Amino acid sequence: MPTKILSVSHYAPENKLTNFDLEKIVETSDEWITERTGIKERRIAEPGIATSDLAKEASLRALKKAGVKPEEIDGIMVATATPDTFVVSTACTLQTKIGAKKAFAFDLWAACPGFIYGLKLAKGLINGENIRYILLVGAETLSRFLDWEDRTTCVLFGDGAGAFVIGNKSEEEGIIDVYLGADGSLKDLLIMPGGGSLKPCSYEIIEKRECYIKMKGREVFKNAVLKMQEAVDIILERNNIKPEQIDYFIPHQANIRIIEALRERLKMPKEKVYVNIDRYGNTSSASIPIALSEMDEKGLLKKGTLLLLAAFGAGFTWGSAIIRW
Ligand code: ACO
Repeated sequence: MPTKILSVSHYAPENKLTNFDLEKIVETSDEWITERTGIKERRIAEPGIATSDLAKEASLRALKKAGVKPEEIDGIMVATATPDTFVVSTACTLQTKIGAKKAFAFDLWAACPGFIYGLKLAKGLINGENIRYILLVGAETLSRFLDWEDRTTCVLFGDGAGAFVIGNKSEEEGIIDVYLGADGSLKDLLIMPGGGSLKPCSYEIIEKRECYIKMKGREVFKNAVLKMQEAVDIILERNNIKPEQIDYFIPHQANIRIIEALRERLKMPKEKVYVNIDRYGNTSSASIPIALSEMDEKGLLKKGTLLLLAAFGAGFTWGSAIIRW
C-alpha cells in the first residue's frame, strides 16, 4: 500500500528564552550565538510539562487536520531523546493521553534524525502490514537535560514537538525513499554520559554533571556537514533526482552554517531551503516536523510538492528522505 502524509502539525511551549536572557545566565552574547549558530530564541517548557504533553498537543492538532479519530490510529511512534521516563515509553503515555486505545506504541531513539528513522519504519509498516494509520511524532524537552552552567551547549537547544498522521489512502507513494546511516564509534563526541545502565544515577554522577548533554561542538559540526551531504547525495542519486527538481529542502535545524554549507553544495536558492532555527534553536527530532508544519501553515505544501529532508545527530546517526506531498 502506498503511504501518504495526511497531515502535519506542531506545538511549541509559549515561554521564549532569548539570547539576551541567556546573557544573564552564562557568559555569552547575542552576537556570538547569532553569528555562530543563527539562533535568536528558543522555547522552554514550563516546569511539570513533559515530552508527552508537547507530543499530545502536536498529535491532537495533526489528527484534527487529517480528520482521523485517535481510536482509529493503528500505531504510535515517538522519536525522542528526552523521554518522560526511562521505563515506560513516551509513546505509551501519549497513547493514553490522546485516547488512541487500539494503537501499538513505542519510542524510537535516534536523536535528531529520529523523525527520519520513523518515516522509514512507517513506510515499511504501511507497505507491508495491514495498517491504515500511523501517528509519527518528534518531541523533545531538551531543556531538562542541558547544563545551564555550560555555555557551549545550553544556548543551542529548545523544546517542541511535531507530528505526522501517515495513512495508506493513496494511489502514489508519498514517502518515496528514506536513507539512514549510523556510526557508534564517535558516540563520545555528543553524549549524556550518566543516568543510563553504564553510569546509573548517583550523587557522584550529579556532582560531575554527567546527567547533562556534553558536546565537542567543532568535531560534531564537521561530521554533521559531511554526513548530511553524503545522505543528500546518495538519496538524490539513487532516485535519479536532480537538486533543481526539489521544491523545498528541509534540513535539521542545528546550525545556520551547516544549513548554508548544504545549500551551497546543492546549489539551491535561499527561498527553497526552509529555516526557522532563529526562533526555535535545535529541537532535535522535532525540528523537521515543526518546519514542515510551519510550511503547511504558510501554504507552501501543495499536492505533488517534492521535498528533500536531511538530519544528523548523536550516535552518530544521520538520514535523508524524499517525500511527495
Ligand atoms: N558564548 C560565547 N562564547 C562561546 C560560547 C558561547 N555560548 N560557546 C563557546 N564559546 C567559545 C569557546 O569557549 C571558544 O573559545 P576559545 O576560542 O577561547 O576556546 C570559542 O567560543 C569557539 O568555540 P568553538 O566550539 O570552536 O565554536 P564553533 O564555531 O565550533 O561553534 C557550535 C560552536 C555552535 C557548538 C558549533 O560547533 C556547532 O553548531 N556544532 C554542531 C552542533 C550540531 O550539529 N549538533 C547536531 C546534533 S544535536 C543532537 O543530536 C541532540
